[in-house]
Amino acid sequence: MRNQSPPVIDIAGAERAHTHKAIDAACRDSGLFQVSGHGIDTRLIAALRRQMRALFAEPIAVKRSISRTAENPWGFYDKELTRYTRDWKETYDYGPGNDAEIVPQWPLGLPAFRPVIQAYYRACDEIAMRLLRVIARNLGMPPDALDANFRPEHTSFLRLNYYPKCPAPLAGHFGVNPHTDSGAITLLLQDEQPGLEVFRRGAWWPVDPRPDTLVVNIGDIVQVWSNDRYTAPLHRAVTHAGAARFSVPFFFNPVYSAEYAPLPSTINSREPPRYRPINWGEFRARRASGDYANQGEYAEISQYAV
Ligand code: OGA
Ligand code: NI
Repeated sequence: MRNQSPPVIDIAGAERAHTHKAIDAACRDSGLFQVSGHGIDTRLIAALRRQMRALFAEPIAVKRSISRTAENPWGFYDKELTRYTRDWKETYDYGPGNDAEIVPQWPLGLPAFRPVIQAYYRACDEIAMRLLRVIARNLGMPPDALDANFRPEHTSFLRLNYYPKCPAPLAGHFGVNPHTDSGAITLLLQDEQPGLEVFRRGAWWPVDPRPDTLVVNIGDIVQVWSNDRYTAPLHRAVTHAGAARFSVPFFFNPVYSAEYAPLPSTINSREPPRYRPINWGEFRARRASGDYANQGEYAEISQYAV
């Protein structure tokens, strides 16, 4: 039987032509692949896993004392909705602060948490930037054509996900309900416990856990840039009765002022642009209100189709 798990691509040679081709093929196929050779120190990954487990093992009152709010998106949360449906998970989000109300919140009892989270965030930022340049090139643009969207102050964030054991996983409790990621690129570190699934050619496929690799999926922004040459994959996380699961997505997102639209290299007289320009700050604000409450319309790129 053909192995249906997405391809593993070694990105140690991300500047090589055959690596570009493999990434292009994966983006055209499911929009999701795994990368080895990413260069993140295994000790950093081990430390991240330890800090993550330590955080979620804290008493719930301690975790709630660093809750995220409507004003400050960084912190702990255990009531998230994805497309209006409650997820079976606890999360902790970290991103850089601004000079006002947006500030990272750190668990007081875990002194090593902050440096580990910040070092891992920087490592992901660097890998995402390299992948962005490959994607720009694969879409027919100069490799650095998209860089400016992410400098100086991009809105990327790191999320720690804890999916507790679920007594009735088959009753429709998903760790994360089916969705596409709204940003540019997501890098996901899984543990050894399966759970992530991607929708491809009409069916859900498990993504094999490979603790030494990162799962990469493209988000809605890359779909728009590509003028639908690539599709942001629908994915979900299933729960288990017998085991908890942990994962760490890094969401690579542009500056709030970024406007994204099909790249000039993807449009011509036969293929007109399929989207009008979308402002990231506006899209993000519309999506965030849907995460908190069943209010308004769930923001989707299809609402910007022309
Ligand atoms: C997400 C997500 C999948 C996972 O947080 O957006 O898709 O396996 N997570 O944790
Ligand atoms: Ni996701």
